[in-house]
Amino acid sequence: MIPSLEVKIGNLTFKNPVLTASGTFGYGLEYSQFVDLNLLGGVVVKGLSLRPKQGNPPPRIYETACGMINSIGLQNIGFEAFKNEKLPFLRKYKTNIIVNFFGENLDEYIEIAYLLDSLEDVHALEMNVSCPNKTTEWRKMGLEPELLRKAVKEVRAVTKKTLIVKLSPQVTDIALMAKICEDEGADAVSLINTIPAMVIDIKTRKSMLGTPTGGLSGPAIKPIALRAVWETVQAVKIPVIGIGGIVSAEDALQFLIVGAKAIQIGTANFINPRATVEIIEGIKQFLIEENIKDINELIGSFIQ
Ligand SMILES: Cc1cc2nc3c(=O)[nH]c(=O)nc-3n(C[C@H](O)[C@H](O)[C@H](O)COP(=O)(O)O)c2cc1C
Repeated sequence: MIPSLEVKIGNLTFKNPVLTASGTFGYGLEYSQFVDLNLLGGVVVKGLSLRPKQGNPPPRIYETACGMINSIGLQNIGFEAFKNEKLPFLRKYKTNIIVNFFGENLDEYIEIAYLLDSLEDVHALEMNVSCPNKTTEWRKMGLEPELLRKAVKEVRAVTKKTLIVKLSPQVTDIALMAKICEDEGADAVSLINTIPAMVIDIKTRKSMLGTPTGGLSGPAIKPIALRAVWETVQAVKIPVIGIGGIVSAEDALQFLIVGAKAIQIGTANFINPRATVEIIEGIKQFLIEENIKDINELIGSFIQ
């Protein structure tokens, strides 16, 4: 018996709960020589803004004991180039295409969400409210409940597509932020984004990155992400997508057991470009061994 791995989020069906995490899988093209994208539950593409963005000065990646710190700074090709150069490639695959997006201010969030809504081959939007650079009021929307409420409400008003809000771990109560997203009509929340972190060269006394701080990801953040997902699952009825340090099927299964409806694979793609498909296969094997016919029986089966 082949178990069913299918899950539903918003009005979308995913053939399995394994998606790629934004910024770690490019626009799919780069990884398509290693992974048949048809096998994935979904591809979440690199964070997109209205206009192209150069990002931060190099170096932009530093490897830590069990993860990495990045200061990419949301570099991307902008909406038009994505639509004309990347989407025609992605639309050939039978997988859900999820566009992660952000803006410099609320108007930009609304404008890009509106434009993305018109693209037939984009199945869902992932609204990134967890940018680590908090220089403007709207950059703080992932941290301040009332800013988040207004932002989700206004974005929801311009798109009928499945709307996922990607939350920051830099709050005392992430479940509360998720509840706000649910109240304002989000179809799902995804968590967590990277955690602000530093690394210093003791000879130069400068940052090892081109900026003083960056975002920590990878196995180091998994226990934090797992706890955040569990707390959130208990506070909301909408699906929660778990992200953070998942490198194996066992990691993924832990997130599903605490209640994540799907999971995203990030840093693991840099270590092993086939991590996503190996994790899908590992989940399937586990279900067979445990005689579980439908993955939905496993989701949220955590015993206290
Ligand atoms: C190099 C790099 C670039 C990223 N770019 C984005 C991005 O554009 N938008 C976003 O929402 N998250 C971005 N992230 C965060 C990841 O999507 C993910 O939330 C985080 O890395 C935690 O998952 P992981 O531990 O599996 O990597 C990026 C992460 C890395 C490592």
